[in-house]
Amino acid sequence: MAQNWTPNSWRNKPIQQVPAYPDQAALAATEAQLAKFPPLVFAGEARRLKAQLAKVAEGDAFLLQGGDCAESFYEHGADNIRDFFRSFLQMAVVLTYGAQLPVVKVGRIAGQFAKPRSSNFEKQGEIELPSYRGDIINGIDFTEASRIPNPERQLDAYRQSAATLNLLRAFAMGGYANLENVHKWMLGFVKDSPQGERYKKLADRISETMDFMRAIGITADNQPSLRETDFFTSHEALLLGYEEAFTRVDSTSGDWYATSGHMLWIGDRTRQLDHAHVEYFRGIKNPIGLKCGPSLQPDNLIELIDALNPANEAGRLTLICRFGHDKVAEHLPKLIRAVEREGKKVVWSCDPMHGNTITLNNYKTRPFDRILSEVESFFQIHRAEGTHPGGIHVEMTGKDVTECTGGARAVTGADLQDRYHTHCDPRLNADQALELAFLLAERMKTGRDEKRMVVNG
Ligand code: TRP
Ligand code: MN
Repeated sequence: MAQNWTPNSWRNKPIQQVPAYPDQAALAATEAQLAKFPPLVFAGEARRLKAQLAKVAEGDAFLLQGGDCAESFYEHGADNIRDFFRSFLQMAVVLTYGAQLPVVKVGRIAGQFAKPRSSNFEKQGEIELPSYRGDIINGIDFTEASRIPNPERQLDAYRQSAATLNLLRAFAMGGYANLENVHKWMLGFVKDSPQGERYKKLADRISETMDFMRAIGITADNQPSLRETDFFTSHEALLLGYEEAFTRVDSTSGDWYATSGHMLWIGDRTRQLDHAHVEYFRGIKNPIGLKCGPSLQPDNLIELIDALNPANEAGRLTLICRFGHDKVAEHLPKLIRAVEREGKKVVWSCDPMHGNTITLNNYKTRPFDRILSEVESFFQIHRAEGTHPGGIHVEMTGKDVTECTGGARAVTGADLQDRYHTHCDPRLNADQALELAFLLAERMKTGRDEKRMVVNG
């Protein structure tokens, strides 16, 4: 099967979620232009991420994946990127400390622009217009002109991705992520919250440890791992024309890689076995994700795994589970048992966001206690099945938004209108993200202690 694959073989398959571009010639011209642009990532980096994810699959690391639901042209700027990165580093350090495992860091960023929609149209009052599909396709304003898919937007999305990635690389490698800065990642508005207090205590302990290590000769100057971190990018590869333009042969291995991001995933709405998205994904060598929702049957999952990871390589495939706090217990165990029975090597990750969306006061929101509850169930189920709860996939921002209700600072339904900025789904604010990280760290610590007792006892 794999020998018939080409970067455009998906074009012969049925496909979901295709924007209605009125000018197909202009679309083709843009895609041809993108195909000449430099890649955003290098195949060697994707292989490095795959190797790190293989450790997660084996139970020796934890995956932290997070970022915007949808990046927007409007919110693009240095402050937003920095604040996201600070919040993300805080989560990472809390998890590393709590789990005492390496944390694989993957942002939903620098390419997360295209959105699948449940309906092709949106109605407001008497007016019906094409749905907003993400800034890479059309505009969010509810006007006829803005909702027309425009290929030029793909050029802007590429440039924004390149600029974002450039800054993130600088932060990750250039000193910002240095563990000596652990106190400086605190965001102003988090400082006075209960999570902020908790974080400060942890940061103090890390600083103390660093002081001790310095005394014995281990410093950030002579130990790059103290001052640098591997940070990878990911997005849902929904817009396949764009992805095809960035699918390139790696000269060192001769393999095809998607170079629009390190890791790409297939959405829950576009994972039909014989359709275009699965066709595209089976031919690229990157580590990939598959969103698993309540409609996915165990047999179907095994067929998808066979198509997407025929060599059963650890690190190639991450199953991102998004069932909802009240459905996870019904669906997850069946999938885990099928995967275990077939001996498939996968990373299990929990997306506690997408199955827990409700409408409140006309806002799409997510109650924080339901998010926590899905995460708790995910951990409990994996413990019961004897499998590794490998990671978490969240929609988050470094800003003080009011999009998800609850959390220690109790965002209420009435607060939603204050700072509701998302272009698509509600995100955790930096405070809520940190609270979630502490909860995860506790759960992982429990798992570690239990394992130790088994080993020693
Ligand atoms: N290099 C290690 C890692 O990435 C340690 C580290 C450096 C780190 N900076 C960090 C860990 C920031 C978490 C956050 O894991
Ligand atoms: Mn979303």
